[in-house]
Amino acid sequence: MDILVSYLLQIVVLCISLLLIFMRIYRNKPTSPRLPPGRKGWPFVGETLEFGRACVSGDPEKFITDRMSKYSPDVFQSSLFGENFAVFCGASGNKFLFSTANESVNTWWPRSLLESLNFPFDVEGFKDELDELRAMLPEFLKPAALQRYVPVMDSMAKEHMEIDWSPSKEVKALPLARKYTFAIACRLLINVTDTERVNRFTNLLNLVGAGLISAPIKLPFTAFNRAVKAGKLFHEELFAIIRQRKVEFLEKKGQENVLDVLTRMLLIIEENGREISEKAVAASITGLFIGSYDTTSSTITSTLRYLAESPHAYNEVLKEQMEIAKSKGPGELLNWDDIQKMRYSWNVACEAMRLAPPGQGAFREVTSELTYAGSTVPKGWKAYWTVASTHKNPKYFPDPEKFDPSRFEGHGPTPYTFVPFGGGPRMCPGKEYARLEILTFIYNMVTKFKWEKLNPNEKIIFSPAPTPVNGLPLRLNPLKNST
Ligand code: HEM
Ligand SMILES: *[C@@H]1O[C@H](CO)[C@@H](O)[C@H](O)[C@H]1NC(C)=O
Ligand SMILES: *[C@@H]1O[C@H](CO)[C@@H](O)[C@H](O)[C@H]1NC(C)=O
Repeated sequence: MDILVSYLLQIVVLCISLLLIFMRIYRNKPTSPRLPPGRKGWPFVGETLEFGRACVSGDPEKFITDRMSKYSPDVFQSSLFGENFAVFCGASGNKFLFSTANESVNTWWPRSLLESLNFPFDVEGFKDELDELRAMLPEFLKPAALQRYVPVMDSMAKEHMEIDWSPSKEVKALPLARKYTFAIACRLLINVTDTERVNRFTNLLNLVGAGLISAPIKLPFTAFNRAVKAGKLFHEELFAIIRQRKVEFLEKKGQENVLDVLTRMLLIIEENGREISEKAVAASITGLFIGSYDTTSSTITSTLRYLAESPHAYNEVLKEQMEIAKSKGPGELLNWDDIQKMRYSWNVACEAMRLAPPGQGAFREVTSELTYAGSTVPKGWKAYWTVASTHKNPKYFPDPEKFDPSRFEGHGPTPYTFVPFGGGPRMCPGKEYARLEILTFIYNMVTKFKWEKLNPNEKIIFSPAPTPVNGLPLRLNPLKNST
């Protein structure tokens, strides 16, 4: 009897549950939209820890690909940095976010990152000014504006080779690539060249960089706190430089010199009769420093690593660059046309960025409701696109783990599958600058040395750019007829 009652009770409960579920589905269908499939993870932290762990363990793709196969290959939901997220995947997800939905989304960064980038001041106060400067960046960084920078980069690469690379039989590539990248940024962004100041700025921005990926806790001795302090000092020096340039720049109008980005920015602001605060200009310049530093030096390092592992690619790059070197007179520097001839070398760098992407993707804020692949993403949610959903997908890149620069020949990869710089109107504004800097470096390296890795199985971690844990130690063998 007891058993029967219990049985009946269970059936009644089951029926009521089913009814409730049915009613819910029925009721929800016309009113509340269907959110992307997925889970939110733990309260507040959501899936942030799993996401972080995947990055540190050297496999940031796994977080994405696991969820793509579990929930949806198009778009799934998650919760990161205390926000609701829709993660868009695949070529069509990228295309949707970059192009189709470009007017329904805004650039968005986690608060901790913004705080460490724009301290010591509150970003909200001059957000419009920053947006205005952001819209000007392509003007400063477009190919035509960068042509004059090529010989400057080349002469600096030669100087670095002479001082830091040639005297040693064995070098660590990563720290030297970082030094080269940073020195060029100091010269071309703000015309700072004296070693003592460059070193001071390097130390400050290294601290800021460490703060970007730390927990945003402002206690003494936390990385974040050190980053905030370093950022303050850096900005104070920048303010002084901005004021000095303002005094100088009247003399520089119409000058044929290689003007730094800051001076050109000030000139254009003045020509357009705009009032833009020093704070906004400083924050924008800091953004360029941060945006260019880890990304470009990581790409240079990965390129050297893959060239050491692939004799065929190395020989092709050597052939291409030697051809250019032979066409140059003694002491003649690289120019824009030479860079255009470095097709194969750029394919090698692209293949390195496909396998070891310097940035994992970027975030957006949804400003009006999006509908995609049968799901609805409400206004106020954040969106995330990643390189992980396409770069190693065998559908787009057969035998995806293989290093093969020929993938970029002819028409190259399917649109929206190779996206190290993003795409659409918010694509990285520094792409061309990075290309010049990377190719100039390869030219100088490959025409001087052959190199081999000293540590064949060096581990790569993501912080968040791919970083060989020992800095990629190399043995350098000088070429006989080097330039
Ligand atoms: C290999 C080198 C580089 C890679 C892979 C890279 C990648 C990226 C990516 C993925 C984004 C996010 C785009 C998006 O929101 O969808 C970005 C943004 C940005 N990058 Fe780069 N970048 C590189 C070099 C540079 C350089 C050299 C500069 C400056 C000279 C730069 C300046 C910026 C800036 C300022 C932004 C933010 C733009 C915004 O706020 O909308 N980047 N970059
Ligand atoms: C941005 O969106 C608008 C309207 O949807 C579209 O006409 C335009 O082509 C898009 N721009 C880009 C660069 O995709
Ligand atoms: C850059 O700085 C150097 C030395 O401080 C100065 O001689 C040169 O004129 C500056 N160049 C530009 C383009 O401002």
